[in-house]
Amino acid sequence: TSTSVAIVGGGPAGLMLSHLLALAGIESVVVEIRTRQQIEETHRAGILEQDSVRLLVESGVSDRVLRDGDEHEGIELAFGGGLHRVDFRALVGASCQLYPQTEVFTDLADAHAREGREVRFGVSDVTVHDVGTDRPAVFFTDADGTHHELRCDYLVGADGSRSTCRGAVPEASRAQYFREYPFAWFGILCEAPASAPELIYNHSERGFALISQRTPALQRMYFQCDPATDVADWPDDRIWEELQTRLQANGHTLHEGAITSTSVLPFRSFVQEPMRHGRLVLAGDAAHTVPPTGAKGLNLALADVRVLAEELERAIVRKDPSALDDYSVRALRRVWKAQHFSYWMTTMLHTLPEASPFDVRRQVGELTTLVGSTAGSSYLAEGYTGWPTAR
Ligand code: DHB
Repeated sequence: TSTSVAIVGGGPAGLMLSHLLALAGIESVVVEIRTRQQIEETHRAGILEQDSVRLLVESGVSDRVLRDGDEHEGIELAFGGGLHRVDFRALVGASCQLYPQTEVFTDLADAHAREGREVRFGVSDVTVHDVGTDRPAVFFTDADGTHHELRCDYLVGADGSRSTCRGAVPEASRAQYFREYPFAWFGILCEAPASAPELIYNHSERGFALISQRTPALQRMYFQCDPATDVADWPDDRIWEELQTRLQANGHTLHEGAITSTSVLPFRSFVQEPMRHGRLVLAGDAAHTVPPTGAKGLNLALADVRVLAEELERAIVRKDPSALDDYSVRALRRVWKAQHFSYWMTTMLHTLPEASPFDVRRQVGELTTLVGSTAGSSYLAEGYTGWPTAR
């Protein structure tokens, strides 16, 4: 079989791309090794930039984000004994939306089902071939055990941080940039009322904590931990004591409740350049990973595919594959801005294992400067709510 664009990966990046291509009259097939249910059960971040919200609504995926999401016009930075609000609306006239990534995925999967488009979940043995030629291919085995060879004009690797497609680019044709961090996040979901109306990014000598929400009765919280942490060593009491101690350092108390999920999230920064090789392009986590502070991962993936859909349309309609070079250049500009933003939010708020009292006080100095400066706060507000997409 064959198609115009074969997309490896049916997460938000792959499904949004396929949706945008369909709107432009371009045929695509999505293959995904996980089942729809497996993806829906994986907890991810929960903050959408303004343009991510607009993309979902204006492309006709769903307007559920406007009804079921929660608009946030600012965040609280907690440090030095108190809470300090950063007012996005007042600073940059923008807001973001609390709407979990799993809901974005559900909206996209529903849109594809509604339109009867080809998305193959739960496939196995996915391999990519002939990426340096005019007719690349994806081989896979479907859920019934049938082997398929899918030929295409363009191949998109939207297959996440453990991407197979990324590895199909010869070493001599790509560069990889890494940064590791000596900490991770311990994430929980708990059945409790919200502890604050907005997100709290909490700095403390004992380490960072983030207070987020999901629904009026379900909350999402994280605290900085050692990457080797085993969730089995953390009964509910110990988790609550750690979270309360960190928040109480800044005079805030959390509403506690039954913890229904625990996990440890790794931290790293990664970019592979360029995001194009021959007729293979990479999008989302397949090309880059950001640490979670600031919730840029999903937003960056959606920004990639918005640009990619435009450039693929140019490549296909004008039969000019060089449009894909423009994709890589345009996408990478934003990727590196987001890499910096995520790195900056991370290093400003987390405590290094070897941090001295000087280091902790210097961070409080930085945070004090930030909230006391319209220029400083506006930089945070712009980055958090999302930069506009430039040509
Ligand atoms: C959430 C996660 C983040 O990494 C972040 O910066 C803000 C919110 C969340 O899961 O709600």
